[in-house]
Amino acid sequence: MDKKVELDKLLDSIDTGAEAPVSEPERQFFYMAKCREWTKAEKARLGRELTFHVQTFGCQMNAKDSEKLTGILEEIGYVETDSENADFVIYNTCTVRENANNRVYGRIGYLGTLKKKNPGMKIAMCGCMMQEEHVVEKIRRSYRFVDIVFGTHNIFKLAELFYESLKRGKMVVEVLQGTDMIVEDLPSERKYPFKAGVNIMYGCNNFCSYCIVPYVRGRERSRKPEDIIHEIEELAANGVVEVMLLGQNVNSYGKTLAEPVSFAKLLRMVNEVEGIRRIRFMTSHPKDLSDELIQAMAECEKVCMHLHLPVQSGSSRILKAMNRRYTKEDYLALVDRIKAAMPSISLTTDIIVGFPGETEEDFLETVDVVKKVGYDSAYTFLYSKRTGTPAATMENQVPEDVAKERFDRLLQVVTEVSAQRAQEDTGRIEEVLVEERNEQEPGLVTGRLSNNLLVHFPGDTDLIGQIVRVRLDECRGFYYMGTQSIR
Ligand code: 5AD
Ligand code: SF4
Repeated sequence: MDKKVELDKLLDSIDTGAEAPVSEPERQFFYMAKCREWTKAEKARLGRELTFHVQTFGCQMNAKDSEKLTGILEEIGYVETDSENADFVIYNTCTVRENANNRVYGRIGYLGTLKKKNPGMKIAMCGCMMQEEHVVEKIRRSYRFVDIVFGTHNIFKLAELFYESLKRGKMVVEVLQGTDMIVEDLPSERKYPFKAGVNIMYGCNNFCSYCIVPYVRGRERSRKPEDIIHEIEELAANGVVEVMLLGQNVNSYGKTLAEPVSFAKLLRMVNEVEGIRRIRFMTSHPKDLSDELIQAMAECEKVCMHLHLPVQSGSSRILKAMNRRYTKEDYLALVDRIKAAMPSISLTTDIIVGFPGETEEDFLETVDVVKKVGYDSAYTFLYSKRTGTPAATMENQVPEDVAKERFDRLLQVVTEVSAQRAQEDTGRIEEVLVEERNEQEPGLVTGRLSNNLLVHFPGDTDLIGQIVRVRLDECRGFYYMGTQSIR
């Protein structure tokens, strides 16, 4: 039976007059059933559907959490809409860099004006930003119209918190500082029918000195391999052909399990799942990337020829201050081993410019790494000071104009290097997963190559979700124009 139909039946059978169960996920099912009674009455009262909108900021982990929030809201009886003019709006926030926070505040104010016009509107704030005390204080003080505030550890409790807010009629705040709990079997609504993200672990133990993630996402916790495989088998049965295994640091997957399993072993298990055609994963920390994993990647035919391997800086001195626990030489040697095992692999990276104490020489080391590795693309960030991290109190913070000037220079090198890389593959015939209709040019569809680049080519929307062969006719910097090949 379809999972949604099954859950609907289960919720229908729940006695909502009884005491709430203590164990999970039963407790959440109970609250979903209770909220569903409320939405039913509300819809009858208004004589219309109730709508919701989840706005995601930040990374793939947040995108995945938003799918879970969406799954719960749909179960409760809301229908999705793509505008914030909705009956229930959730902001799933990111706090990795300061400018992300400022963007969110501006938009909460806007939600307040919408709520004035629709007083029944519910507003919830969740995600990484809410794990910071000063943020929650600001919301309590300045945005009193917000109904629910929760963090990264209790995403699964949305229905319970919502019910609580209905009962109390005032702001409900529940931000946990950590958890060992991983709740399985809750609903989740996928954005694409043919590809899906799958959490394999939560949290991070690395404490890179600039990064706030370990403070807001908590300690590393891995899901059991059997739960992961079971989820992927179900996805495959529902038509998913590509999975992205998600974790802050997938290379240390499984170390904390009662029966430890390496990420390389997990990859081999996923490779065996029938129906899955492509496997991706992110993010890898260079210090934990083992030879066992390189071998598994090379041998598993479904693993895509793409590796995101954040370098952050090319200067060994800065890397030490960042607490990355590898040197420039270690990183370059690792890249050599990867390329020796997989000559066609595409490498991408994250780089921070303007970390405290970074000199022109340090910066040039970073440029040198970009040129030596030949990244297919690189996400470049200006260092952003995050209160509570060790780097925030380091001396020699780099002046903004110096950092900005370096950033622009780096971007230019990155663009040149990646354009050159893409040019090398022009003329080849490659397999692509067709993802969507091209918005700009009717008649074209867009597909993703194994190496993660996009190609636009003439084709019918029937092709969406299929893997087809496409000739890369022309390279336009970051993407290709192509034609479908029957060969
Ligand atoms: N400033 C700038 N960039 C940061 N990142 C993480 N923390 C910061 C910060 N304080 C970048 C890193 C990481 C990516 C997800 O965000 O490059 O890999
Ligand atoms: Fe942040 Fe480093 Fe953990 Fe990545 S590995 S989330 S950069 S602390």
